[in-house]
Amino acid sequence: MKFKTVFVCQKCGFESLKWAGKCPDCGEWNSLVEEVKAQESKKAPARTRSFTDFSSEVVKLSESQAVKETRIPTHVEEFDRLLGGGLVKGQLTLLAGAPGIGKSTLMLQVAAELSKTYKVLYISGEESVNQISGRAQRLGVKGDNIFLHCETDIQKIVESVSNVNPEVLILDSIQTVYHPEFTSSAGTVAQVRECTSELVRLCKPKGIMTFVLGHVTKDGELAGPKILEHMVDCVLYFDTEKDNVLRLLRPHKNRFGSTDEIGLFRMTQQGLVSVENANEFFAETSRERALKGRAYSLSLEGSRPLLTEVQALVSPTRFPYPRRVATGVDLNRCLMLFAALEKHIGLSLDNKDIFVSLAGGVKLKDPALDLAICAAVISSCKDIPLPHDSVFMAEVGILGQVAKVPRIDKRLDEARRLGFKKAYTSLVNKDEKKKLGDLALLELTDLNDLAVKLR
Ligand SMILES: Nc1ncnc2c1ncn2[C@@H]1O[C@H](COP(=O)(O)OP(=O)(O)O)[C@@H](O)[C@H]1O
Ligand SMILES: [Mg+2]
Ligand SMILES: [Zn+2]
Repeated sequence: MKFKTVFVCQKCGFESLKWAGKCPDCGEWNSLVEEVKAQESKKAPARTRSFTDFSSEVVKLSESQAVKETRIPTHVEEFDRLLGGGLVKGQLTLLAGAPGIGKSTLMLQVAAELSKTYKVLYISGEESVNQISGRAQRLGVKGDNIFLHCETDIQKIVESVSNVNPEVLILDSIQTVYHPEFTSSAGTVAQVRECTSELVRLCKPKGIMTFVLGHVTKDGELAGPKILEHMVDCVLYFDTEKDNVLRLLRPHKNRFGSTDEIGLFRMTQQGLVSVENANEFFAETSRERALKGRAYSLSLEGSRPLLTEVQALVSPTRFPYPRRVATGVDLNRCLMLFAALEKHIGLSLDNKDIFVSLAGGVKLKDPALDLAICAAVISSCKDIPLPHDSVFMAEVGILGQVAKVPRIDKRLDEARRLGFKKAYTSLVNKDEKKKLGDLALLELTDLNDLAVKLR
Protein backbone atom coordinates (compact mmCIF):
# COMPACT_ATOMS: atom_id res chain seq x y z
CA MET A 1 0.00 0.00 0.00
CA LYS A 2 1.24 3.50 -0.83
CA PHE A 3 0.95 6.36 1.64
CA LYS A 4 0.52 10.06 1.16
CA THR A 5 0.44 13.01 3.48
CA VAL A 6 -2.67 15.14 3.62
CA PHE A 7 -3.99 17.85 5.88
CA VAL A 8 -7.42 17.05 7.23
CA CYS A 9 -9.83 19.43 8.92
CA GLN A 10 -10.72 17.86 12.26
CA LYS A 11 -14.08 19.50 12.22
CA CYS A 12 -15.53 18.75 8.80
CA GLY A 13 -13.13 16.24 7.30
CA PHE A 14 -12.01 18.50 4.44
CA GLU A 15 -8.75 17.34 2.90
CA SER A 16 -6.02 19.48 1.44
CA LEU A 17 -2.50 18.81 0.18
CA LYS A 18 -1.24 22.02 1.73
CA TRP A 19 -1.61 23.32 5.23
CA ALA A 20 -3.83 26.35 5.77
CA GLY A 21 -4.68 28.37 8.86
CA LYS A 22 -8.34 28.37 8.08
CA CYS A 23 -10.35 25.48 6.68
CA PRO A 24 -11.60 26.55 3.24
CA ASP A 25 -14.65 24.38 3.64
CA CYS A 26 -16.12 25.06 7.07
CA GLY A 27 -14.14 28.17 8.04
CA GLU A 28 -12.74 26.76 11.27
CA TRP A 29 -9.33 28.13 12.33
CA ASN A 30 -6.36 25.88 13.11
CA SER A 31 -8.33 22.74 12.43
CA LEU A 32 -6.10 21.23 9.74
CA VAL A 33 -3.93 18.39 11.01
CA GLU A 34 -1.34 16.43 9.09
CA GLU A 35 -2.34 12.83 8.53
CA VAL A 36 -0.83 9.94 6.62
CA LYS A 37 -3.33 8.27 4.40
CA ALA A 38 -3.22 5.01 2.49
CA GLN A 39 -3.40 5.85 -1.18
CA GLU A 40 -6.18 4.05 -2.93
CA SER A 41 -5.26 2.50 -6.24
CA LYS A 42 -7.19 4.10 -9.06
CA LYS A 43 -9.00 0.97 -10.16
CA ALA A 44 -10.14 -0.10 -6.73
CA PRO A 45 -13.80 0.49 -5.95
CA ALA A 46 -14.73 3.01 -3.30
CA ARG A 47 -13.81 1.49 0.01
CA THR A 48 -16.39 2.96 2.24
CA ARG A 49 -19.91 1.79 1.81
CA SER A 50 -22.36 2.10 4.62
CA PHE A 51 -24.59 -0.66 3.32
CA THR A 52 -23.94 -4.29 2.63
CA ASP A 53 -25.13 -4.47 -0.90
CA PHE A 54 -27.46 -1.85 -2.13
CA SER A 55 -27.89 -2.75 -5.77
CA SER A 56 -31.12 -4.38 -6.94
CA GLU A 57 -32.96 -5.30 -10.09
CA VAL A 58 -35.14 -2.64 -11.65
CA VAL A 59 -38.68 -3.36 -10.52
CA LYS A 60 -42.06 -1.68 -10.67
CA LEU A 61 -42.88 -0.01 -7.39
CA SER A 62 -46.39 -1.45 -7.51
CA GLU A 63 -45.01 -4.95 -7.87
CA SER A 64 -42.36 -4.61 -5.23
CA GLN A 65 -43.03 -5.90 -1.76
CA ALA A 66 -42.26 -4.16 1.44
CA VAL A 67 -40.75 -6.43 3.99
CA LYS A 68 -41.58 -5.05 7.38
CA GLU A 69 -38.48 -4.76 9.49
CA THR A 70 -38.85 -6.69 12.67
CA ARG A 71 -38.00 -4.65 15.69
CA ILE A 72 -35.93 -6.08 18.45
CA PRO A 73 -36.92 -4.42 21.69
CA THR A 74 -34.19 -3.63 24.20
CA HIS A 75 -36.76 -3.52 27.02
CA VAL A 76 -35.23 -0.26 28.22
CA GLU A 77 -38.54 1.51 27.66
CA GLU A 78 -37.45 5.03 26.87
CA PHE A 79 -34.68 3.73 24.65
CA ASP A 80 -37.14 1.64 22.63
CA ARG A 81 -39.51 4.56 22.37
CA LEU A 82 -36.95 6.78 20.73
CA LEU A 83 -35.64 4.06 18.45
CA GLY A 84 -39.17 3.65 17.13
CA GLY A 85 -39.95 0.39 18.89
CA GLY A 86 -36.57 -1.26 19.01
CA LEU A 87 -33.50 -2.13 17.01
CA VAL A 88 -33.24 -3.45 13.47
CA LYS A 89 -30.79 -6.25 12.61
CA GLY A 90 -27.48 -4.77 11.51
CA GLN A 91 -28.34 -1.32 12.81
CA LEU A 92 -25.36 0.89 13.59
CA THR A 93 -26.14 3.39 16.31
CA LEU A 94 -23.99 6.25 17.51
CA LEU A 95 -24.57 7.30 21.11
CA ALA A 96 -22.94 10.63 21.87
CA GLY A 97 -22.75 12.76 24.95
CA ALA A 98 -20.51 14.61 27.38
CA PRO A 99 -18.25 12.53 29.64
CA GLY A 100 -20.08 11.35 32.73
CA ILE A 101 -23.54 11.74 31.22
CA GLY A 102 -24.25 8.01 31.33
CA LYS A 103 -23.34 6.51 27.95
CA SER A 104 -21.51 3.49 29.37
CA THR A 105 -24.22 3.04 31.98
CA LEU A 106 -27.01 3.01 29.41
CA MET A 107 -25.10 0.66 27.15
CA LEU A 108 -24.46 -1.81 29.95
CA GLN A 109 -28.16 -1.76 30.80
CA VAL A 110 -29.12 -2.29 27.17
CA ALA A 111 -26.51 -5.05 26.93
CA ALA A 112 -27.95 -6.71 30.00
CA GLU A 113 -31.43 -6.82 28.46
CA LEU A 114 -30.26 -7.90 25.00
CA SER A 115 -27.98 -10.57 26.44
CA LYS A 116 -31.04 -12.50 27.58
CA THR A 117 -31.54 -13.44 23.93
CA TYR A 118 -28.37 -12.40 22.12
CA LYS A 119 -24.67 -12.76 22.56
CA VAL A 120 -23.12 -9.40 23.40
CA LEU A 121 -19.52 -8.28 22.94
CA TYR A 122 -18.60 -5.16 24.89
CA ILE A 123 -15.35 -3.56 23.77
CA SER A 124 -13.96 -0.84 25.98
CA GLY A 125 -11.06 1.42 25.27
CA GLU A 126 -11.99 3.65 28.17
CA GLU A 127 -12.21 1.44 31.20
CA SER A 128 -10.61 -1.71 32.56
CA VAL A 129 -12.46 -5.00 33.00
CA ASN A 130 -12.40 -4.23 36.73
CA GLN A 131 -14.14 -0.91 36.34
CA ILE A 132 -16.80 -2.34 34.07
CA SER A 133 -17.52 -5.27 36.33
CA GLY A 134 -17.72 -2.81 39.23
CA ARG A 135 -20.39 -0.90 37.37
CA ALA A 136 -22.15 -4.13 36.41
CA GLN A 137 -22.31 -5.06 40.07
CA ARG A 138 -23.71 -1.68 41.04
CA LEU A 139 -26.35 -1.91 38.30
CA GLY A 140 -27.19 -5.48 39.19
CA VAL A 141 -26.16 -6.80 35.78
CA LYS A 142 -25.18 -10.48 35.82
CA GLY A 143 -23.86 -10.69 32.29
CA ASP A 144 -23.62 -14.41 31.57
CA ASN A 145 -23.92 -13.71 27.88
CA ILE A 146 -21.84 -10.51 27.81
CA PHE A 147 -18.22 -10.79 26.74
CA LEU A 148 -15.77 -8.05 27.71
CA HIS A 149 -12.68 -7.06 25.82
CA CYS A 150 -10.55 -4.04 26.69
CA GLU A 151 -8.83 -3.12 23.46
CA THR A 152 -8.12 -0.07 21.33
CA ASP A 153 -6.54 -1.62 18.21
CA ILE A 154 -9.28 -1.97 15.60
CA GLN A 155 -7.60 -4.96 13.96
CA LYS A 156 -7.61 -6.86 17.24
CA ILE A 157 -11.23 -5.81 17.73
CA VAL A 158 -12.10 -7.26 14.33
CA GLU A 159 -10.36 -10.48 15.32
CA SER A 160 -12.23 -10.54 18.58
CA VAL A 161 -15.55 -10.15 16.75
CA SER A 162 -14.66 -13.10 14.48
CA ASN A 163 -13.78 -15.23 17.48
CA VAL A 164 -16.71 -14.38 19.74
CA ASN A 165 -19.22 -14.08 16.90
CA PRO A 166 -21.60 -11.76 18.76
CA GLU A 167 -25.05 -10.57 17.70
CA VAL A 168 -24.63 -7.28 19.53
CA LEU A 169 -21.45 -5.23 19.55
CA ILE A 170 -20.73 -2.22 21.75
CA LEU A 171 -17.67 -0.05 21.22
CA ASP A 172 -16.86 2.37 24.03
CA SER A 173 -15.66 4.77 22.58
CA ILE A 174 -14.84 5.59 18.95
CA GLN A 175 -12.34 8.25 20.07
CA THR A 176 -10.13 5.68 21.77
CA VAL A 177 -9.71 3.16 18.94
CA TYR A 178 -7.03 3.38 16.28
CA HIS A 179 -5.99 1.66 13.09
CA PRO A 180 -2.30 0.71 13.30
CA GLU A 181 -1.77 1.47 9.60
CA PHE A 182 -2.38 5.13 10.23
CA THR A 183 0.09 7.27 12.08
CA SER A 184 -2.32 9.87 13.36
CA SER A 185 -3.50 9.54 16.92
CA ALA A 186 -6.81 8.07 18.03
CA GLY A 187 -9.75 10.44 17.71
CA THR A 188 -8.56 12.23 14.57
CA VAL A 189 -10.65 12.30 11.43
CA ALA A 190 -8.59 9.65 9.63
CA GLN A 191 -8.74 7.26 12.57
CA VAL A 192 -12.40 7.73 13.30
CA ARG A 193 -13.30 7.33 9.63
CA GLU A 194 -11.16 4.24 9.10
CA CYS A 195 -12.23 2.54 12.31
CA THR A 196 -15.90 3.25 11.65
CA SER A 197 -15.78 1.95 8.09
CA GLU A 198 -14.00 -1.11 9.40
CA LEU A 199 -16.91 -1.63 11.77
CA VAL A 200 -19.46 -1.05 9.01
CA ARG A 201 -17.75 -3.64 6.79
CA LEU A 202 -17.62 -6.05 9.68
CA CYS A 203 -21.08 -5.68 11.18
CA LYS A 204 -23.44 -4.93 8.30
CA PRO A 205 -23.02 -8.23 6.42
CA LYS A 206 -23.37 -10.20 9.63
CA GLY A 207 -26.36 -8.21 10.81
CA ILE A 208 -24.68 -7.38 14.11
CA MET A 209 -26.48 -4.69 16.03
CA THR A 210 -23.70 -2.25 16.76
CA PHE A 211 -23.43 0.66 19.17
CA VAL A 212 -20.62 3.14 18.90
CA LEU A 213 -20.14 5.57 21.79
CA GLY A 214 -18.69 9.00 21.22
CA HIS A 215 -17.73 12.03 23.27
CA VAL A 216 -18.88 15.53 22.58
CA THR A 217 -16.97 18.75 23.10
CA LYS A 218 -17.96 21.52 25.50
CA ASP A 219 -20.13 23.07 22.80
CA GLY A 220 -22.09 19.86 22.59
CA GLU A 221 -20.70 18.86 19.23
CA LEU A 222 -19.35 15.46 18.48
CA ALA A 223 -15.63 15.53 19.27
CA GLY A 224 -13.90 14.95 15.98
CA PRO A 225 -15.53 14.50 12.68
CA LYS A 226 -19.09 15.05 11.67
CA ILE A 227 -18.56 12.41 9.00
CA LEU A 228 -19.15 9.80 11.66
CA GLU A 229 -22.80 10.85 11.70
CA HIS A 230 -23.13 10.08 7.99
CA MET A 231 -21.73 6.59 8.34
CA VAL A 232 -24.19 5.31 10.93
CA ASP A 233 -27.93 4.61 10.78
CA CYS A 234 -28.94 6.32 13.93
CA VAL A 235 -27.44 9.16 15.98
CA LEU A 236 -28.51 9.72 19.58
CA TYR A 237 -27.35 12.62 21.71
CA PHE A 238 -27.59 13.02 25.45
CA ASP A 239 -28.87 16.53 25.58
CA THR A 240 -28.81 17.55 29.23
CA GLU A 241 -26.08 18.80 31.51
CA LYS A 242 -24.54 16.06 33.59
CA ASP A 243 -25.18 17.80 36.90
CA ASN A 244 -28.87 17.18 36.40
CA VAL A 245 -30.58 14.05 37.59
CA LEU A 246 -32.72 14.07 34.48
CA ARG A 247 -31.09 12.83 31.29
CA LEU A 248 -32.63 13.57 27.94
CA LEU A 249 -31.71 11.44 24.95
CA ARG A 250 -32.56 12.89 21.56
CA PRO A 251 -32.23 11.33 18.10
CA HIS A 252 -30.55 13.54 15.51
CA LYS A 253 -30.82 10.99 12.77
CA ASN A 254 -32.76 7.77 12.43
CA ARG A 255 -32.91 5.74 9.23
CA PHE A 256 -35.51 3.46 10.75
CA GLY A 257 -37.81 5.84 12.50
CA SER A 258 -38.72 9.40 13.37
CA THR A 259 -36.48 11.84 15.16
CA ASP A 260 -39.33 13.45 17.05
CA GLU A 261 -39.41 11.30 20.13
CA ILE A 262 -37.10 11.84 23.04
CA GLY A 263 -36.04 9.48 25.78
CA LEU A 264 -36.15 10.63 29.38
CA PHE A 265 -34.12 9.03 32.10
CA ARG A 266 -33.27 9.64 35.71
CA MET A 267 -29.72 8.86 36.87
CA THR A 268 -29.75 6.74 40.01
CA GLN A 269 -27.38 4.50 41.91
CA GLN A 270 -28.87 1.57 39.98
CA GLY A 271 -28.32 3.25 36.64
CA LEU A 272 -30.64 5.09 34.29
CA VAL A 273 -34.31 4.67 35.04
CA SER A 274 -36.87 5.38 32.33
CA VAL A 275 -39.07 8.33 33.25
CA GLU A 276 -42.40 7.70 31.63
CA ASN A 277 -44.17 10.60 33.11
CA ALA A 278 -41.66 13.41 33.15
CA ASN A 279 -44.23 15.94 34.24
CA GLU A 280 -44.92 14.24 37.50
CA PHE A 281 -41.18 14.18 37.98
CA PHE A 282 -40.94 17.92 37.31
CA ALA A 283 -44.00 18.65 39.37
CA GLU A 284 -42.21 17.25 42.42
CA THR A 285 -39.84 20.19 42.28
CA SER A 286 -41.87 22.67 44.35
CA ARG A 287 -44.56 24.43 42.47
CA GLU A 288 -46.29 25.80 45.48
CA ARG A 289 -45.75 29.54 45.46
CA ALA A 290 -45.78 32.50 43.11
CA LEU A 291 -42.32 33.64 42.07
CA LYS A 292 -40.98 36.66 40.22
CA GLY A 293 -39.46 35.69 36.91
CA ARG A 294 -40.77 32.14 36.75
CA ALA A 295 -43.28 31.01 34.14
CA TYR A 296 -44.45 27.50 33.33
CA SER A 297 -45.10 26.18 29.88
CA LEU A 298 -45.88 22.87 28.23
CA SER A 299 -43.56 22.28 25.33
CA LEU A 300 -44.12 19.45 22.94
CA GLU A 301 -41.36 16.91 22.56
CA GLY A 302 -42.34 14.34 19.98
CA SER A 303 -45.78 13.27 21.05
CA ARG A 304 -45.35 14.24 24.68
CA PRO A 305 -46.09 17.59 26.32
CA LEU A 306 -43.26 18.37 28.70
CA LEU A 307 -43.71 20.64 31.69
CA THR A 308 -41.10 23.34 31.36
CA GLU A 309 -40.06 26.02 33.81
CA VAL A 310 -38.78 29.23 32.25
CA GLN A 311 -36.77 31.51 34.52
CA ALA A 312 -35.82 35.09 33.80
CA LEU A 313 -33.74 37.58 35.70
CA VAL A 314 -33.80 41.21 34.65
CA SER A 315 -31.40 43.45 36.59
CA PRO A 316 -29.69 46.83 36.12
CA THR A 317 -26.47 46.47 34.19
CA ARG A 318 -23.02 47.48 35.41
CA PHE A 319 -21.46 47.26 31.99
CA PRO A 320 -21.45 49.65 29.04
CA TYR A 321 -23.32 47.00 27.07
CA PRO A 322 -26.11 45.11 28.79
CA ARG A 323 -25.69 41.36 28.94
CA ARG A 324 -28.07 38.90 27.31
CA VAL A 325 -27.66 35.27 28.33
CA ALA A 326 -29.90 32.36 27.32
CA THR A 327 -29.50 28.83 28.63
CA GLY A 328 -31.55 26.02 27.13
CA VAL A 329 -33.30 28.30 24.63
CA ASP A 330 -32.07 30.00 21.48
CA LEU A 331 -30.45 33.36 22.26
CA ASN A 332 -31.48 34.93 18.96
CA ARG A 333 -35.08 33.98 19.60
CA CYS A 334 -34.82 35.65 23.01
CA LEU A 335 -33.29 38.82 21.54
CA MET A 336 -36.24 39.04 19.17
CA LEU A 337 -38.69 38.63 22.04
CA PHE A 338 -36.91 41.31 24.12
CA ALA A 339 -37.11 43.69 21.16
CA ALA A 340 -40.79 42.92 20.73
CA LEU A 341 -41.42 43.58 24.43
CA GLU A 342 -39.64 46.95 24.23
CA LYS A 343 -41.40 48.01 21.08
CA HIS A 344 -44.94 46.85 21.78
CA ILE A 345 -45.46 47.27 25.49
CA GLY A 346 -42.71 49.79 26.16
CA LEU A 347 -40.79 47.61 28.58
CA SER A 348 -37.49 49.36 29.16
CA LEU A 349 -34.72 46.82 28.85
CA ASP A 350 -31.86 48.80 27.32
CA ASN A 351 -30.00 49.33 30.59
CA LYS A 352 -30.73 45.90 32.01
CA ASP A 353 -28.94 42.58 31.96
CA ILE A 354 -31.29 39.74 31.04
CA PHE A 355 -30.77 36.09 31.84
CA VAL A 356 -33.21 33.49 30.57
CA SER A 357 -32.91 29.85 31.41
CA LEU A 358 -34.84 26.59 31.42
CA ALA A 359 -34.87 24.71 34.70
CA GLY A 360 -33.60 21.14 34.67
CA GLY A 361 -30.83 21.72 32.16
CA VAL A 362 -33.02 20.82 29.18
CA LYS A 363 -32.60 22.42 25.77
CA LEU A 364 -35.80 23.09 23.85
CA LYS A 365 -36.84 24.81 20.67
CA ASP A 366 -40.62 24.79 20.97
CA PRO A 367 -42.12 28.17 19.93
CA ALA A 368 -44.74 27.72 22.67
CA LEU A 369 -42.04 28.83 25.10
CA ASP A 370 -42.13 32.36 23.60
CA LEU A 371 -45.07 33.45 25.70
CA ALA A 372 -43.56 31.97 28.85
CA ILE A 373 -40.27 33.77 28.19
CA CYS A 374 -42.13 37.08 27.69
CA ALA A 375 -44.17 36.53 30.86
CA ALA A 376 -41.07 35.67 32.89
CA VAL A 377 -39.22 38.76 31.61
CA ILE A 378 -42.17 41.08 32.33
CA SER A 379 -42.53 39.50 35.76
CA SER A 380 -38.89 39.96 36.69
CA CYS A 381 -38.67 43.43 35.19
CA LYS A 382 -41.80 44.77 36.87
CA ASP A 383 -41.53 42.72 40.07
CA ILE A 384 -44.87 40.99 39.53
CA PRO A 385 -44.84 37.42 40.85
CA LEU A 386 -46.38 34.89 38.47
CA PRO A 387 -48.83 32.50 40.14
CA HIS A 388 -47.66 28.90 40.33
CA ASP A 389 -50.89 27.63 38.84
CA SER A 390 -50.59 29.53 35.53
CA VAL A 391 -49.17 28.15 32.33
CA PHE A 392 -48.09 30.08 29.20
CA MET A 393 -48.22 28.49 25.75
CA ALA A 394 -48.09 30.49 22.52
CA GLU A 395 -45.74 31.74 19.88
CA VAL A 396 -44.91 35.45 19.85
CA GLY A 397 -44.05 37.15 16.58
CA ILE A 398 -41.94 40.21 15.82
CA LEU A 399 -45.07 42.32 15.54
CA GLY A 400 -45.97 41.40 19.08
CA GLN A 401 -48.83 39.18 17.97
CA VAL A 402 -49.61 36.02 19.90
CA ALA A 403 -50.02 33.00 17.63
CA LYS A 404 -51.22 29.47 18.02
CA VAL A 405 -48.86 26.52 18.47
CA PRO A 406 -49.48 22.96 17.24
CA ARG A 407 -51.46 20.50 19.39
CA ILE A 408 -52.74 23.09 21.82
CA ASP A 409 -55.56 20.69 22.81
CA LYS A 410 -53.03 18.13 23.97
CA ARG A 411 -51.09 20.73 25.93
CA LEU A 412 -54.24 22.11 27.58
CA ASP A 413 -55.32 18.62 28.52
CA GLU A 414 -51.97 17.95 30.16
CA ALA A 415 -52.04 21.34 31.93
CA ARG A 416 -55.42 20.49 33.40
CA ARG A 417 -54.19 17.05 34.43
CA LEU A 418 -51.21 18.61 36.21
CA GLY A 419 -53.51 20.83 38.22
CA PHE A 420 -52.91 24.18 36.52
CA LYS A 421 -55.79 26.61 36.95
CA LYS A 422 -55.05 29.25 34.29
CA ALA A 423 -53.72 28.86 30.78
CA TYR A 424 -52.51 31.88 28.81
CA THR A 425 -52.71 31.06 25.11
CA SER A 426 -53.59 32.46 21.72
CA LEU A 427 -57.17 32.27 20.46
CA VAL A 428 -58.28 28.66 20.67
CA ASN A 429 -61.12 27.10 18.69
CA LYS A 430 -64.15 25.30 20.10
CA ASP A 431 -62.97 21.76 19.52
CA GLU A 432 -59.76 22.40 21.36
CA LYS A 433 -61.63 23.75 24.38
CA LYS A 434 -63.63 20.60 25.00
CA LYS A 435 -61.61 19.03 27.74
CA LEU A 436 -60.74 22.08 29.81
CA GLY A 437 -62.43 21.06 33.06
CA ASP A 438 -61.70 23.75 35.64
CA LEU A 439 -58.78 25.15 33.68
CA ALA A 440 -59.54 28.81 32.89
CA LEU A 441 -58.45 29.94 29.45
CA LEU A 442 -57.00 33.43 28.94
CA GLU A 443 -56.86 33.98 25.20
CA LEU A 444 -54.47 36.70 24.05
CA THR A 445 -54.06 38.36 20.67
CA ASP A 446 -50.90 40.34 21.35
CA LEU A 447 -48.28 41.25 23.96
CA ASN A 448 -50.41 44.14 25.19
CA ASP A 449 -53.07 41.65 26.24
CA LEU A 450 -50.44 39.76 28.18
CA ALA A 451 -49.13 42.88 29.92
CA VAL A 452 -52.66 43.93 30.87
CA LYS A 453 -53.66 40.49 32.18
CA LEU A 454 -50.50 40.14 34.25
CA ARG A 455 -50.90 43.47 35.98
N1 LIG B 1 -21.83 5.02 42.66
C1 LIG B 1 -22.63 5.74 41.90
N2 LIG B 1 -23.88 6.03 42.30
C2 LIG B 1 -24.71 6.75 41.54
N3 LIG B 1 -24.41 7.25 40.37
C3 LIG B 1 -23.19 7.01 39.91
C4 LIG B 1 -22.25 6.25 40.64
N4 LIG B 1 -21.14 6.18 39.89
C5 LIG B 1 -21.38 6.87 38.77
N5 LIG B 1 -22.61 7.36 38.77
C6 LIG B 1 -23.26 8.17 37.76
O1 LIG B 1 -22.85 7.69 36.51
C7 LIG B 1 -22.33 8.76 35.75
C8 LIG B 1 -21.22 8.24 34.87
O2 LIG B 1 -21.83 7.43 33.91
P1 LIG B 1 -21.03 6.79 32.70
O3 LIG B 1 -21.98 5.84 32.09
O4 LIG B 1 -19.71 6.32 33.15
O5 LIG B 1 -20.86 8.06 31.77
P2 LIG B 1 -20.12 8.13 30.36
O6 LIG B 1 -19.87 6.74 29.89
O7 LIG B 1 -21.11 8.89 29.52
O8 LIG B 1 -18.88 8.93 30.56
C9 LIG B 1 -21.85 9.77 36.75
O9 LIG B 1 -21.91 11.07 36.24
C10 LIG B 1 -22.85 9.60 37.86
O10 LIG B 1 -23.99 10.40 37.61
MG1 LIG C 1 -18.01 5.87 29.62
ZN1 LIG D 1 -13.36 22.20 8.00
